Amino acid sequence: AGSRPLAGKRVLVTAGGTMERLDPVRYITNDSSGKMGFAIAEAARDQGADVTLVCARTDGPPPAGLRLVKAESAEEMLEAVMVRLPETDAVVKAAAVADYRPAVRHESKMKKGASERLTLELVRNPDILQAIGEWRRQGSAAAVRGPFVVGFAAETNDVERNAVEKLSRKGCDLIVANDVSQEGAGFGTDTNAVQVYGAEGLVEALPLQSKRAVAERLWAIVRERAGWNGPQ
Ligand code: C5P
Repeated sequence: AGSRPLAGKRVLVTAGGTMERLDPVRYITNDSSGKMGFAIAEAARDQGADVTLVCARTDGPPPAGLRLVKAESAEEMLEAVMVRLPETDAVVKAAAVADYRPAVRHESKMKKGASERLTLELVRNPDILQAIGEWRRQGSAAAVRGPFVVGFAAETNDVERNAVEKLSRKGCDLIVANDVSQEGAGFGTDTNAVQVYGAEGLVEALPLQSKRAVAERLWAIVRERAGWNGPQ
């Protein structure tokens, strides 16, 4: 494998914050910059993987040298991810997917009403990570186990318990818990501090470092646990 240890692997990374439209000019989104997902996609690309980046709203332009798929909303992202699962070896879900979307998407710009108040009704979005887990549990037509799946989680308390519970509920192989309480970690920054959890608990704690360095280490853990390093 040498310097291209992911050669021949097809990876799918989601990045950015979803945009949930209310009308043609208004939407609900979140603070995700897309930087963590970009770093994960770039690291995979540089390790020789065939990378598909499913991208919602992001701060900067996506990296070059990979297949870019635009998915604005959670529903679009679900579709973009699910259709590609049969041809994917690893999925990393770094996108910040909105939990709710407006119940109604107006075809034309909403007008101001006479009232001083407006109540916006929201409905639950599909959980993409959970849908991937269910797809894997059902077993695909080709009787393969499906891709190796990594989820993200922003936790503030009881990090280990919540991460391991989330991993089992959503049926993924690893959960990367963002230490959101720490300065320099999480949204918008070029650095991050995370803990990687498997079904058995903490796999590795990655102290504050560049998102690119976090991404390199994450792929090393994925390769090892997916059995991609080959016979030593
Ligand atoms: O449940 P929570 O939002 O903390 O889980 C975070 C993980 O689940 C992230 O990997 C995120 O991309 C994924 N997720 C998703 N679909 C949602 C909500 C979260 O795929 N609707």
